[in-house]
Amino acid sequence: MIWELFGVHLTFFISILLILIVWLVWPRKQKRVRKGLITLLGLVFLSALVTGLIAYWPHQYEKTYLADDTKQMELEEYSLSRLADSLDFYIGTAVKPDSLSRYWVPGEFNSVTAENHFKPGHLLQDAEAWEFNFETADALLHQAEEHGMRMRGHTLIWGKYPGRTHPVAWIKMTDQAEDPKAAMTTIITRYITEVMTHYKGKVPTWDVVNEPMGGTVLYENVFTRTLGEAYIDLAFHTAYSIDPSCELFLNEAIGDYDGPQGKAFLELLERLKERGVPVHGVGLQTHHINNIHDVEALKRYLRAIGEMGYKTEITELDIRLLLFKKTKDPYQAQGEQYYQIAKACMEEPSCQGLTIWGITDRENWLDEIPPFKWKSPNAPYILDEDLNKKPAYWGLHRALVEQYQNQ
Ligand code: XIL
Repeated sequence: MIWELFGVHLTFFISILLILIVWLVWPRKQKRVRKGLITLLGLVFLSALVTGLIAYWPHQYEKTYLADDTKQMELEEYSLSRLADSLDFYIGTAVKPDSLSRYWVPGEFNSVTAENHFKPGHLLQDAEAWEFNFETADALLHQAEEHGMRMRGHTLIWGKYPGRTHPVAWIKMTDQAEDPKAAMTTIITRYITEVMTHYKGKVPTWDVVNEPMGGTVLYENVFTRTLGEAYIDLAFHTAYSIDPSCELFLNEAIGDYDGPQGKAFLELLERLKERGVPVHGVGLQTHHINNIHDVEALKRYLRAIGEMGYKTEITELDIRLLLFKKTKDPYQAQGEQYYQIAKACMEEPSCQGLTIWGITDRENWLDEIPPFKWKSPNAPYILDEDLNKKPAYWGLHRALVEQYQNQ
């Protein structure tokens, strides 16, 4: 879809540019050719404009679920976390600093992930001076503890976009060092040691490395440039040495479970296992941004990872409403996908939890990021903007109830 949008934009700009060039450069004597070319390019421009408008026009779907609250009343006393607790399962949400107090739905979740505030960019106030600021993260942890929720630490090392995911200063500190490999070893070791020591005994699960894959190979970044694949080993060994009782996860976003990227990631897991790297679990993010995931393929994938001896979790589930625009009732279709995904996870013995990447559609990360913010409705979570429970909520709920009845 990104390419579709990109294509529309590109056509848009190129046609304007060509019209300008023809206008300025084409000999004025060749009046007919000039006019013909400009008309043709004008038509291309117009069709890009219309396609763009159709793509970006905000849609709204009927909330048929608001008409039926009987189900809600019958099942209300069984909250998600109450069901999950009885199944020894984690049902989690990602939160911003004050989400829990603003949108807290009593007892719905027994696990929480900080959407951003446990990331290196937030914890390291000044990377070069090794100055940490744990204030906001500590407050979040405190809130989670008050509600008796597990905190999933997310994330120690994340290589993708310098600045957003790891401090840009780490690149400078490595590049300017006499021995970049040694410098990077110090960075990874020191960062993980300081953070995990601070949270020792309080954060039982950590995403030690997040999104290492860039397509079918490891993402090309300051970590791979200096240490190659061994940066992953180093991160996990360091984490293990600080707190051997912690569950250490490798977290990844897989787009095609049966395709080349899915296969390459399984091969990485195999290599890590062969080398005895202390990876205990594998998180599958499961963001539904561009496509609706094939649930059967996801299930097979969870099974394959489980069979290698890893625990698994769905760590960042969200499902854009817009993906169901061709169905009769997009909200119900979205709810059905929530149900299927939750069921797939709960039926796999390795899958110990499912976290939704937010609480309410009122605040969702896709509404903040171009081009998704322009393509609405994203509405990817289980409560709508007015905090009503959506079919997505009831989809999760149904999966938990069925699992409870079948156990
Ligand atoms: C996202 C947050 O939701 C945004 O607020 C932030 O601007 C960027 O990061 N994969 C991950 C998450 O592992 O940490 C990302 O979270 C979403 C994609």
